[in-house]
Amino acid sequence: MSAALPTSSREWHLVARPHGWPKAEDFALREAAVAAPAEGRILVRNKYFSVDPYMRGRMNDVKSYTPPFKLDHPMDGGAVGEVIASNAEGFAVGDHVLHGLGWREIASLPAKHAVKVDPDVAPLSAYLGVLGMPGLTAYAGLFEVASFKEGDAVFVSGAAGAVGSQVGQMAKLKGASRVIGSAGSDEKVNLLVEEYGFDAAFNYKNGPVRDQLKAAAPDGIDVYFDNVGGEHLEAAISSLNVHGRATICGMIAQYNATEPTPGPNNMAMIIGKRLRLQGVLVSDHSDLQPQFVQEVAGWLASGELKFQETEVEGIEKGYDAFVGLLRGENTGKMIVSLV
Ligand SMILES: NC(=O)c1ccc[n+]([C@@H]2O[C@H](COP(=O)([O-])OP(=O)(O)OC[C@H]3O[C@@H](n4cnc5c(N)ncnc54)[C@H](OP(=O)(O)O)[C@@H]3O)[C@@H](O)[C@H]2O)c1
Repeated sequence: MSAALPTSSREWHLVARPHGWPKAEDFALREAAVAAPAEGRILVRNKYFSVDPYMRGRMNDVKSYTPPFKLDHPMDGGAVGEVIASNAEGFAVGDHVLHGLGWREIASLPAKHAVKVDPDVAPLSAYLGVLGMPGLTAYAGLFEVASFKEGDAVFVSGAAGAVGSQVGQMAKLKGASRVIGSAGSDEKVNLLVEEYGFDAAFNYKNGPVRDQLKAAAPDGIDVYFDNVGGEHLEAAISSLNVHGRATICGMIAQYNATEPTPGPNNMAMIIGKRLRLQGVLVSDHSDLQPQFVQEVAGWLASGELKFQETEVEGIEKGYDAFVGLLRGENTGKMIVSLV
């Protein structure tokens, strides 16, 4: 193997389980040895890795749809990088791949766990966002789970984030009668209306969500895409029209809660309005991947679909990027760049 290969890599470990908001002491950036790849494996120099809200859940020691991070082990998650050594058929040095060993500089993995990506089709970081897991979440959650149809009025929370910004634009592209978004700053609200073509948007920090939503959607909504939970979900139940549908995608307002959070106080409306509230897990929808990539790549090429990324530079900033995401410091996909 080439002498130029790195012999060590820095990687982020979870060293204590956060109680409430994560603290810097819960994490450590540590050095690990790097070995030449064994049969069937590749070595990848990560160029970008993803920090995602679901990772907060993995920091708790509870049974969930993804296993908890192990203490004193490297954390993982989406990453894209360049193959720097290969002992696997079909993978060559210089190939770019998407894989699941983020939070580190160098990843060593079985080649069968990597998917080749083309930097000429889209910037590499886009495979972690608009063309990746969050984009597919938006697509599947809106079109399949919420059974969106032309003419629906759609409300999405977390609307300036990776998933939410795509939900609103996709709904417009497919003929929504009205798209409303909520976000946590006036700058984000302006972006939604000015850049992404939302019909209305509001800053949830400026007043009760129920009142602001009623004002933005006087004729009610047919679809609610929930990224936030709590007060947003209660307001949406109140505004949903008869036979409305809600995709329950995330509840970021409670990810750092230390006490059980109260549910909506208006659940009885689900009966009278015959509402359907359904959870989504992106991993259930890999069958939509080819259709998603084809349609979204087309919208990106034509400029009809826009996206933003907030890049935080340097492996040392991994913790800051993650906590920044939970605080709303990102617009669009939050990414750690190692290039
Ligand atoms: N079910 C699935 O398969 C799946 C897959 C991907 C993502 N998700 C979920 O989808 C949601 C969005 O994920 P993402 O990757 O696109 O993240 P994101 O929206 O890009 O980033 C998270 C955003 O949440 C907002 N936020 C934080 N605390 C909040 C609070 N208390 N109330 C309202 N908003 C708050 C912040 O924006 P503001 O400035 O607007 O507050 C922040 O920018 C998350 O809940 C995530 O867990 C689910």
